[in-house]
Parts: sequence; structure tokens; C-alpha cells
Amino acid sequence: MKISTTTSGPKRITTKVIASMKDRRQPIACLTAYDFITARLLDQAGIDLILVGDSLGMVFQGHETTIPVTLDEIIYHAKTVVRGVDRAMVIVDMPFMSYQANDEEGFRNAGRIMKETGAGGVKFEGGERIARLVRKTAEAGIPVVGHLGLTPQSIHQFGGYTPRGTTAAEARQLLKDAKALEQAGAFAVVLEKIPATLAARVTRSLSIPTIGIGAGVHCDGQVIVVADMLGLYEEFQPRFVRRYAQLAETVRASVGNYVNDVRNRKFPNEKESY
Ligand code: KIV
Repeated sequence: MKISTTTSGPKRITTKVIASMKDRRQPIACLTAYDFITARLLDQAGIDLILVGDSLGMVFQGHETTIPVTLDEIIYHAKTVVRGVDRAMVIVDMPFMSYQANDEEGFRNAGRIMKETGAGGVKFEGGERIARLVRKTAEAGIPVVGHLGLTPQSIHQFGGYTPRGTTAAEARQLLKDAKALEQAGAFAVVLEKIPATLAARVTRSLSIPTIGIGAGVHCDGQVIVVADMLGLYEEFQPRFVRRYAQLAETVRASVGNYVNDVRNRKFPNEKESY
């Protein structure tokens, strides 16, 4: 099987490279990762961006939402991811309540993530409401990604996981939010679960790249949760997830074989012993 990587491209993905990818209409490939081994495999396969997403609260910690994830926890995971990466740019999610109380706290917490993890940037959920914080953070030299549409930290306010931006008023506000993030200095914006036509409009109207998740093919890049696309997380499968592997089945079968071998004294054999 041919593995398509971009190893002939730049040695390190930076904000400059990401910006030039939009200019060259070269789609940006992004996945989440929460640990060293996964990050290393994604990097070797040629991924451009790795997001240490607060989705780790659901797929790694087993919570129902992303809300319980703490700053210390995401810093721990981000450090392990950064150690696995040579080429990709690593972005770290600002967890719920690490920036909502006031801008000063958000700014300091973003700085803590940068200093302690070695990551390349941070991601905030929100638009106009957080524009001042985005500006302050970007002006301090911290690359910022925005996140609009279905922002999981507001899930209780939304009351469910239905698509966002589906009314004319919501679509108008989303466009204003995207512009506000761009003007405040964000270098990219994640668009989650919004109509493909709206995502295409936002993508055309911004000079910075859009990274879609459930937002259609016209975004400048795509992101999905790694455990979803590898078929490891089976709790539910949103329509926008394409499963590229069925690893949960592989793991269950492999562990089942191991258990049988141990119980039947077939493991280890002579070659596997000293
Ligand atoms: O937390 C996360 O993984 C995310 C992406 C899926 C966009 O925010």
C-alpha cells in the first residue's frame, strides 16, 4: 500500500506554511492526538496539524462532554504529543473555564501552555465575544486558532449536537465571528458542524484558512478525532466521520488471541524465552 506523505515538503509546519497552503489551495490535513505513540504515527504519515483537543475528555477519559478537562490535564497530554512530533504543528485546546472568566486569566493560561508543552499554538472556542483575548494572545506571539459553529464547550447552552449556522441570523453571526477572529490575529479557524455552503462562504471571505469538521469539502483543511477515524471510539459515529480502520475490532481480536495463548501456555514459546 502506498502511503501518501508530504515528506518532500517543509521540515517543520509553521503558521507561515499553513498560510501559504491556503494561498496555494493545498488542503491542510489535521487530526487530534493525545499521546506520544499516536502523535508519532500521525507525524510519520505526513499530517500537517495535530490538535491536542479537549475531545480527550470523551474519547480518552470517558466523560460525556469535553467540559471536565482541566488545564493541567491538557498540558500533560500536550507534552507527550510534542515529544512524538518532528514535522507537524501542534495546537492545544484551551479547556473550558481556562479563559471564560476573564481575558487576563485566559492570556496567562495560553502562555502556560506554550511555556510548559512546547506546542505551536492554542485554540479558543468563540468569535466576537473573545476577539480581545485573541488579539492580546496573538500580539504576545502566541499563534491562535479560533473555533466556531458547534463549539462543544457550549453544548449545554445549545441543548444538543444538531448543526449550527442553519438559520439566516446564525449564519450572519458566524460570518461576523469569523471576520472578528481574523481581524484579531487568529491564523486559522475551525468550523464545526455547519452547512457546507456556509463554510464555503466563510472560507472565501477569509484570508486565513478554515479547517472543517462536518463542514463540507470547501474548507481549506479538514480535522476529525483520531479515535473516530481509526474506529477505536464506538460510542457513536457522527455522519461526518469516515472510518479508515476498524481498530476496536482488531484490538479485541488480538487481545482475545493473547488471552487464549496465555491460558493454554502457548505464550511465550522457546524463542521468546531466555
Ligand atoms: O476537541 C477537539 O478534538 C476539537 C476538534 C475536533 C475540532 O475541538
